[in-house]
Amino acid sequence: MILIGFMGSGKSTVAHSLGERMNLPVIDLDKEVVRMTGMEIPEIFKAEGEAGFRKREQEALVQIGGARCIVATGGGVVTYEPSCKLLENMEVPVVYLHADFETLYARIKNDSNRPLVKSREQVRALYEQRLRIYRKTADHEIDCSASVEQVVSSILRIG
Ligand code: S3P
Repeated sequence: MILIGFMGSGKSTVAHSLGERMNLPVIDLDKEVVRMTGMEIPEIFKAEGEAGFRKREQEALVQIGGARCIVATGGGVVTYEPSCKLLENMEVPVVYLHADFETLYARIKNDSNRPLVKSREQVRALYEQRLRIYRKTADHEIDCSASVEQVVSSILRIG
């Protein structure tokens, strides 16, 4: 299963909880990129720009391939066409964790480890651009403004 969604949607937390419940390994794509490059995310953005980061993210996705696991992606993975295609062609459900902008912004606004969190208006523009792509890419949409337990239960009900 692959979790997609905007920053702050709880992809990593939900993935870990799902992994325990489903007895499956969990892969956090951001952590894979950090492991593979030996650099932290803000450093990658600084050295290689967003384009470099997206390429790294796609390489990490290719490595995961069709492994039986829960994957928590980074919020922008769907903005890079080759990564988006990989996600669409994987034979596992892609689940979009959705919440409204204000809920997500409140969760991420003070995080210095996310280079794309700049002004509120910039983050809102990103959110609005991406909404359509998340919905196009996912097989299922789950409301992630609820508690982690509720989100996990809703995902488990998908089957
Ligand atoms: C990004 C989201 C981050 C991380 C990077 C870029 C984005 O992951 O991949 O900072 O473009 O939305 P999270 O969604 O886990 O914060």
